[in-house]
Amino acid sequence: VVKSLINGHVTDVIDVSNRGLAYGDGLFETIRVIDKSPVWLGQHLARLRRGCDRLQLNLDETLLRAEISSLCQTSDAVNHPVADQDVADQVLKVIITRGAGGRGYRPDPRQGVERILQLSSYVADPNSSQQGIALFTCKTRLARQPLLAGLKHLNRLEQVLAAAELPIDCREGLMQDTAGLVIEGTRSNVFFVIAGQLCTPSLAQAGIDGVLREWLCDVMSVQIRQIGSAEIDAAQEIFVGNSVFGIYPVTSVHGVNGAITPFQVGEMTRACQAQLHQATGIIG
Ligand SMILES: Cc1ncc(COP(=O)(O)O)c(C=O)c1O
Repeated sequence: VVKSLINGHVTDVIDVSNRGLAYGDGLFETIRVIDKSPVWLGQHLARLRRGCDRLQLNLDETLLRAEISSLCQTSDAVNHPVADQDVADQVLKVIITRGAGGRGYRPDPRQGVERILQLSSYVADPNSSQQGIALFTCKTRLARQPLLAGLKHLNRLEQVLAAAELPIDCREGLMQDTAGLVIEGTRSNVFFVIAGQLCTPSLAQAGIDGVLREWLCDVMSVQIRQIGSAEIDAAQEIFVGNSVFGIYPVTSVHGVNGAITPFQVGEMTRACQAQLHQATGIIG
């Protein structure tokens, strides 16, 4: 079931000249909603604000908050009645674009931004949280672009190409940047325990500064540094995480040469999952 609001109106129709569609001129957030309440909403909106500042988008955050709350709280805006089992677990996608119109790349500073909200049911995958997943090393590399690094902008072709590489038995892909540094998963951030220390790659040049990553860096001692691909084999534990599915332990890494390296699900991974569950209700 998908419910959509565009600029506060119940509709799922957008103008074909929308710059988000034409140029990827915009940003998005994907937010877990548990019992009608968006998890880490403040952090998601903060990242959106950083993106709007960078792209010079004039977002009315108060209005956006009101629309999010009305979409999550009321069922008045629902075209199709939501079955009970769908209500507990949902995912909210917020897309902000520079709006419709104009010809050519040059943005018009007077143009109003478009707020596209979609709420759909979410099916959790407790098996991946408990048993862990296989991580595939993708050939597709992330471009280094400090101007856009960290932001969740609408240009995600690198992730589309990387996700297309994934074999059926690998739930996530590991991405490096064009300099060969490990950056993140195709839809998650990545964490390693190396020599007993929890660490995660620096995202100064590429990658999305994840809300789960930000939270984890707050509650645990996490070292943020450059991580080379040669260090992966030396890791005692690996896990991937995002704000929707939570944390999936990695039980094997499939290398580009076809070699498969096994990993144990360790104490650090389980401790992070336990903290996450306590703080948000997200299992995994
Ligand atoms: C490429 C990429 N990196 C990282 C993340 C994690 O972001 P968050 O924790 O905000 O969900 C995502 C989430 O979708 C992603 O697509």
